[in-house]
Amino acid sequence: MGGGEMMISEKIEEAINKQINEELYSAYLYLAMAADLEKRNLKGAANWMKVQAQEELTHAMKFFDYLNERGGRVKLMEIRQPPFEWKSVAEIFREANKHEQYITAKINELMDLAIGEKDHATANMLQWFIEEQVEEEASTDEIATKFEMIGEDGRGVFMLDRELAARKFVDETEEG
Ligand code: FEO
Repeated sequence: MGGGEMMISEKIEEAINKQINEELYSAYLYLAMAADLEKRNLKGAANWMKVQAQEELTHAMKFFDYLNERGGRVKLMEIRQPPFEWKSVAEIFREANKHEQYITAKINELMDLAIGEKDHATANMLQWFIEEQVEEEASTDEIATKFEMIGEDGRGVFMLDRELAARKFVDETEEG
């Protein structure tokens, strides 16, 4: 037997290509949310969303690089149009949280597929995303809940917006 690693299955290749699209759509959605937040003059919340969009690009690239590494073919698909306005800042973060729950479900489906196909390398790569999704859901839920509690209280919104201005982009995929 040759030493080469087994090529990735067509099914998993297709599922990873779909997930690359989901991650790119996530970046697009969060950029759209950042734009709406800018319109509301919530610069801190907009900053948070822009950083979130940057993170999503690194998620897409982690799948992109993994697929190439396994000898698969990356096929980029059309990215659908996200909404461009929401009812309130609380709704924006609540929708972001719902979107993260949807992404978690997609990652779980991918994991089920990898386990079903006995593709241990893919399952191992996905473990990073399983852990990341716990964080993604928790952070968006926490901010959504805060904005929901604050409601129309301008001082509260101002304080939370200032807090969200502190977020800086860190490429977490670099840590393996
Ligand atoms: Fe790529 Fe927000 O999960």
